[in-house]
Amino acid sequence: MKPAVRVTVTGAAGNIAYSLLFKIAAGEMLGDDQPIILQLVEIPQAMGALRGVAMELEDCAFPLLQQVSIHDNPEEGFKGVHYALLVGARPRGPGMERKDLLEANAAIFSGQGKALNDFANPDVRVLVVGNPANTNALIASRNAPDLSPSQFTAMTRLDHQRAKGILANRLGVTVNEVKGVTIWGNHSATQFPDLHHANVHGEPVLSLIDGAWYKGQYISLIQKRGAAIINARGASSAASAAQAAINHMRSWALGTDDDWVSMAIPSDGSYGVATGIIYSFPVRCNYGRYEIVQGLELNEFSRQQMKETEQELLAEMADVDHLLPPETAARMTDPFGRAGLVNDIDEECLRAGSIVVKTDRIC
Ligand code: NAD
Ligand code: LMR
Repeated sequence: MKPAVRVTVTGAAGNIAYSLLFKIAAGEMLGDDQPIILQLVEIPQAMGALRGVAMELEDCAFPLLQQVSIHDNPEEGFKGVHYALLVGARPRGPGMERKDLLEANAAIFSGQGKALNDFANPDVRVLVVGNPANTNALIASRNAPDLSPSQFTAMTRLDHQRAKGILANRLGVTVNEVKGVTIWGNHSATQFPDLHHANVHGEPVLSLIDGAWYKGQYISLIQKRGAAIINARGASSAASAAQAAINHMRSWALGTDDDWVSMAIPSDGSYGVATGIIYSFPVRCNYGRYEIVQGLELNEFSRQQMKETEQELLAEMADVDHLLPPETAARMTDPFGRAGLVNDIDEECLRAGSIVVKTDRIC
């Protein structure tokens, strides 16, 4: 039996968590051989409801679930955590854009970044779900000076799955037959769902669909799907968001197979995207690391779409400047630590005459 890993979920009494926690405990996120310790975090006013969720988890008698604890503060809730899913934040209502939540939610993530820095396992992998997810992840990362920026990611997997699902329906195929879809940029209405490299059994998707439908309808359908669900349900997506969070963490921890996925990660300048922001890229994962898929050709239309969503993220970053300590700015230009923490450690070892194995990625 593997040793148990610690998983923290914030907003654990909320709607997304009510799906998410039971999937984690059932082994859907980290595999059916991985025992789990769940550390649930809420605001003090929600502790009563959270106690009820913890009771239900206990009542499921999940074989992998070794322990559940509930916390009304992130410092205790993040103690020793290996995987942190930051869901706790206000959702938007009808008529709001996700960036309207910036002021309401941003402060939560500076405090949680500090708490992760001081209390989490040094290898912690962080997924931000709470909106606006990309910029909240940036705030958390910039407030965690001892962790690598590469340990902080935000969720665009829901958009990725929407893009695949809606396309598969249009083509009359299953989602497994659709490969090479990418979401670029922000989890917002400026995101770019890119089908230029997508294929079905090797056949380019853009030769199977009408270009006017792609540019005129499909892109905006994916960009506005969250709002459409809020309008239809009266509440933001919850079960599909939970499923996407499971898939994001599972890919990161256990690897991607024959297709890439979309993850919002610190930009390292690939494809000319500005550094300093958390931007969604196509990635492949292996051995607990992710790597940006390189070498995709971009036409003028794609470049313009990617620029637009980049500009929105840069504007969001400027809006939360007061929450971004200047001393953590420089390392965002080298988010994978090639010239950062890992090399510093290597040099020390070399001075002591030790044999070291060099690595250029710690994500
Ligand atoms: P919800 O209102 O049902 O639950 C949020 C929970 O977070 C509440 O129980 C609240 O008490 C808790 N919370 C608030 N502040 C907290 C804090 N500082 N620490 C810990 N817990 C805190 O909302 P939900 O439907 O579960 O959605 C949560 C967030 O996820 C929203 O911001 C929503 O917009 C976002 N979301 C993102 C995606 C995505 O694809 N990235 C998809 C769906 C929803
Ligand atoms: C979604 O995409 O469903 C979520 O981000 C909720 C929202 O505000 O759209």
